[in-house]
Amino acid sequence: MAKRKDDDVVGEEHYEPLQPPAGFAETARANDKSLFQEAEKDRLAFWAGMAENLQWSDKWERVLDDDNPPYYKWFVNGKLNVSENCLDVHIENGLGNKKALIFEGEEGDSVSLTYSELLTEVCKFSNAMDKLGVKKGDAVTIWMPMIPEAIVAMLACTRIGAVHSVVFGGFSPDALKDRILDSESKLVVTADGANRRGKVIPMRSAAEEALEECPSVEKVVIVNRTGSSYEPKKGRDLLWSDLMADAETDFAPVTIDAEDPLFILYSSGTTGKPKGILHSTGGYLVGVHTTFRYVFDHHEDDIYWCTADIGWITGHSYIVYGPLSNGSSSFIYEGTPDYPARDRFWELIEKYKISVFYTAPTAIRSFMRWGNQYPNKRDLSSLRLLGSVGEPINPEAWLWYYENIGKSNCPIVDTWWQTETGMIMITPLPGVTPLKPGSASWTFPGVEADVVDDRGKSTKSGQRGFLVIKSPWPAMLRTLHGDPERFENTYWQQYPGMYFTGDGAWKDQDGYFWIMGRVDDVLNVSGHRIGTMEVESALVDHDSTAEAAVIGKVHEIKGHSITAFVTLKEGYEGSEELAQELKAHVGKKIGAIARPEEIYFTYELPKTRSGKIMRRLLRDIAEQRDLGDVTTLMDPQVVAAIKEGYTGK
Ligand code: WTA
Repeated sequence: MAKRKDDDVVGEEHYEPLQPPAGFAETARANDKSLFQEAEKDRLAFWAGMAENLQWSDKWERVLDDDNPPYYKWFVNGKLNVSENCLDVHIENGLGNKKALIFEGEEGDSVSLTYSELLTEVCKFSNAMDKLGVKKGDAVTIWMPMIPEAIVAMLACTRIGAVHSVVFGGFSPDALKDRILDSESKLVVTADGANRRGKVIPMRSAAEEALEECPSVEKVVIVNRTGSSYEPKKGRDLLWSDLMADAETDFAPVTIDAEDPLFILYSSGTTGKPKGILHSTGGYLVGVHTTFRYVFDHHEDDIYWCTADIGWITGHSYIVYGPLSNGSSSFIYEGTPDYPARDRFWELIEKYKISVFYTAPTAIRSFMRWGNQYPNKRDLSSLRLLGSVGEPINPEAWLWYYENIGKSNCPIVDTWWQTETGMIMITPLPGVTPLKPGSASWTFPGVEADVVDDRGKSTKSGQRGFLVIKSPWPAMLRTLHGDPERFENTYWQQYPGMYFTGDGAWKDQDGYFWIMGRVDDVLNVSGHRIGTMEVESALVDHDSTAEAAVIGKVHEIKGHSITAFVTLKEGYEGSEELAQELKAHVGKKIGAIARPEEIYFTYELPKTRSGKIMRRLLRDIAEQRDLGDVTTLMDPQVVAAIKEGYTGK
């Protein structure tokens, strides 16, 4: 049990640092500060050394090309293939019979693929795509449930050099359409449906609406997962099982330049249009390979489970590319933690003897609320290391996780990073870093971060500011697909020479980073990034809505929940039915994760005299705080009217 400190504390730091549990450091990949020292001495030599752990067909000529910032290049002229590094190299090293992927479906069906078997599947799908005319550089959209075929499709893209764009299965067909159009995908890989809490959610039939409006799409490959019915389109739709039945089992990996694009992943920003974050090949793989190895302390016999969906960056980097490039056994689960019962995750840990478990604070807070009886029923003794990602973890949830899941015997790595960073940036090393519950602790070796004030000056310890990255890192995004200007403006304009993360943070006297969350108009709902503007655009897209303002209200489990303030057009009146309709409309435009939890109708939004919407005031209203002086508003009456217009949940 961690002890509370008695003396005065800075900010949220309340606990004595916890040392790694007895015995952990002895077998850890890193158990002293030598990696930090090495990186400090010569950062580029450190990363070059790490790159040596991968297989390159041509060695790079220069580690970092920083001639034209912010367009950095890593491992210039190096050549490699990601699927080769994730599959072939392990087979050559005698790990062909080791399990690469272990899958369990929601209904308890289970399959595992060894490295040799996974390579065969990947080669077959590469051949299938090749026959369909997919070439190096072509974009392929993957919209699938959490099933092994999704990972086979991703790896097959990397084998060919096609650029995958995985769209989260929970996004709506409308959101899928925008992403297919933006990436100009020729091929879409999807499934007939997905299993969700005992029900079947149709995917292929739902996608038709999107596909009809996507002229670039030539072929659609469909995995039969649920037996859902749909109307196949002749000449365009193909069954995964048919293609795989005929496909050859060998496919030589295509040689890819380190700076060739590897994937696009769309993420929310501060405008209505999602950003197509573009990652390239060599630096990305070096970054995720290295961080996986040291942060998750990769041991040969680990069974590693990251509960993210492959539709998010966490799924890309730490279900697929990090674990597989290290030859780990990566467990994937199709369903949710509470179906058929609230001990589902603990049941899986017991059954598969999971040793490393990586999940999100929002899930941990739910587990906490459900109660200890669920984990207590199960044998969790296989666990040796826990991880957290996606949002700040409050010390209370951290301690619950530490004591009830890790039995005070497993370090927790609280990992801070972003879709843009590609790899973990701020994190403990579990055999080295004394842990402070609620702090993501130190930068990973070779990463340089800081907290700065408005003018870009380092803040003093204990002083809040903005989190920046001070020098390029290998897995950094290279640009925003089709929008370099937005890339420059969003990340590189605030502080010349530094990457702006969009997060607020402070550092304590021991150099630990404490992340406070987004400082821009991006919400973090259950660890998912959602732009307020995206939700606002979806609302004003509805016939009834004249104007909308969306804020994040602090929520016990989700971190933030979405609250919308809506002014209606003439002829419409706020009602519970209309609120439901608007929520459904947002669900249709973006997906269920973006549905507002609450809607307030009002004849006007609170604006300053210069016409700026006062979001702070809206947050105060939603969180039922005292409002203080509202006389500076253009229309001081509006606050009372908003309160009356509240429709509840
Ligand atoms: C937040 C997810 C505090 C942060 C990998 C960041 C975190 C955004 C942490 C990126 C953490 C992620 N502590 N905050 N350990 N991890 N965040 O792109 O606000 O989905 O900017 O990447 O999540 O979300 P994204």
